Amino acid sequence: MKITVLGSTGRTGLPFVDRALAAGHDAVALARSPEKLGDRRDHERLTVVAGDATDPATVEEAVAGADAVVSLLGHADGAPDDLLTVAGDHVVAAMRDHGVERYVTLAGAGVRSDRDPGRSLGGRAVGAGLKLFAGDLLEDSREHVDRVVDTDLDWTVVRPPRLTEGPYTGDWEAGYLRMGMGDAISRADLAAFVLTCVEGDEWVRELPMVTGR
Ligand SMILES: NC(=O)c1ccc[n+]([C@@H]2O[C@H](COP(=O)([O-])OP(=O)(O)OC[C@H]3O[C@@H](n4cnc5c(N)ncnc54)[C@H](OP(=O)(O)O)[C@@H]3O)[C@@H](O)[C@H]2O)c1
Repeated sequence: MKITVLGSTGRTGLPFVDRALAAGHDAVALARSPEKLGDRRDHERLTVVAGDATDPATVEEAVAGADAVVSLLGHADGAPDDLLTVAGDHVVAAMRDHGVERYVTLAGAGVRSDRDPGRSLGGRAVGAGLKLFAGDLLEDSREHVDRVVDTDLDWTVVRPPRLTEGPYTGDWEAGYLRMGMGDAISRADLAAFVLTCVEGDEWVRELPMVTGR
């Protein structure tokens, strides 16, 4: 499979690229700082498209010819508050133009689905804290998700709780979960779960939460 990755140089993006290449896929890394890919740039199955995810021409170049697109973008320093919405719109447009159907993207667990069970007290506290301290970013995530689920693409929105730098364990729980204050998943496990989403069809047109056990 040829997988285009936005956010390829991020803390989830790098392990995702490694895992996708190790699994035998071709990867196209859209990167505004390609040097962060390090030696991966020499990999025969990795193509780098240098540029910004808010630039439609860059996104189109990265998406053309792909079998699937994965967005692991995050509001890194200097990123606009509406990064996910703007980049997501460019991805959807490019996917339509080039007949690419599979799109897996990330949102925080603060983005709700009407299939979610009621929130625990801790979950409600985390939600209130996110709204208070990262309201604009949460709004961007929600808007991005609203627009993606409204498309006829084969989308998946993965909703992790707090991300950690822990190791890969392969031991996670996914679904419409009742998240609590202590829920977390390592970026290494998140990257692996996202790849299973891309490779299979279990979570097509679904918004799974995923947390470490
Ligand atoms: N932190 C948490 O606990 C948590 C919890 C749930 C969900 N999430 C979500 O998980 C996602 C990934 O998190 P992470 O920690 O892996 O992110 P990260 O390490 O901050 O990486 C963000 C990636 O986005 C890229 N990026 C930002 N603006 C860009 C632009 N304009 N054009 C191209 N690339 C751009 C960055 O590129 P550069 O390397 O060039 O900066 C980097 O590759 C985020 O969306 C976050 O909201 C996070």
